[in-house]
Amino acid sequence: MSTAKERLIFALDVDSYEEAKRWVELLHDKVGLFKIGKQLFTKCGPEMVRMVKDAGGEVFLDLKYHDIPNTVAKAGVEACRLGARIFNVHALGGREMMEKVVAETDACDCGNRPLRIAVTILTSSTEETLKGVGIDRPVEEMVPRLAKLTKDAGMDGVVASPKEVKLIREACGDDFVIITPGVRPAFAALDDQKRVTTPADAIRAGADYLVIGRPISAADDPVAAAELILEEIETALAAR
Ligand code: C5P
Repeated sequence: MSTAKERLIFALDVDSYEEAKRWVELLHDKVGLFKIGKQLFTKCGPEMVRMVKDAGGEVFLDLKYHDIPNTVAKAGVEACRLGARIFNVHALGGREMMEKVVAETDACDCGNRPLRIAVTILTSSTEETLKGVGIDRPVEEMVPRLAKLTKDAGMDGVVASPKEVKLIREACGDDFVIITPGVRPAFAALDDQKRVTTPADAIRAGADYLVIGRPISAADDPVAAAELILEEIETALAAR
């Protein structure tokens, strides 16, 4: 995995099949993967994944499974059969849950083994949020701890804020996938993202994939915006 395009994930944060299809047709030459989250999947279902794949794109199925090990593993196998290139779970589901996901997706005979990724601590969670659910540890301690648990369970990587990439690389080494949202090129507005990093900085810090939505979708020329981001990723990769 090396080209800038393969590392760019566009967030399909829309609520209709037609709109999603329009974005996929417009961007599939520029973007390696399309992220389908809970809203679009709940509204439009697995058909969305087939539509992206039929148009020549790949899918990051961002459904963040968190349940008993058997249920999450079975959902993971369905994500595999559906043809997702990446799917994710919550690391807080624990080691046994993640190990079962790995074992059952490894054993799946569909010929597609997606990257199995975990969310550590949601970036919307603060120390207060964690205290409220009985976790009396700082976020900066929990993130690398859960990333290490993810790696030890045999999973492929984590989703993390760009600011956390360095800590995770230290805890999990280079052979571990890191996907970062919250990325803003210099030309784009911050929107509701607070702790942001440019694409170049995220790649330089060691991120493998970048999830980017509004800097592309809200641009006057989304294709040109995606091209600028690709150039920025390429330059940062060359210097890495
Ligand atoms: O439009 P924008 O580039 O902010 O979209 C980022 C995408 O990544 C959205 O789908 C958002 O839900 C997701 N995301 C995020 N921050 C996280 C985890 C996921 O922005 N910590």
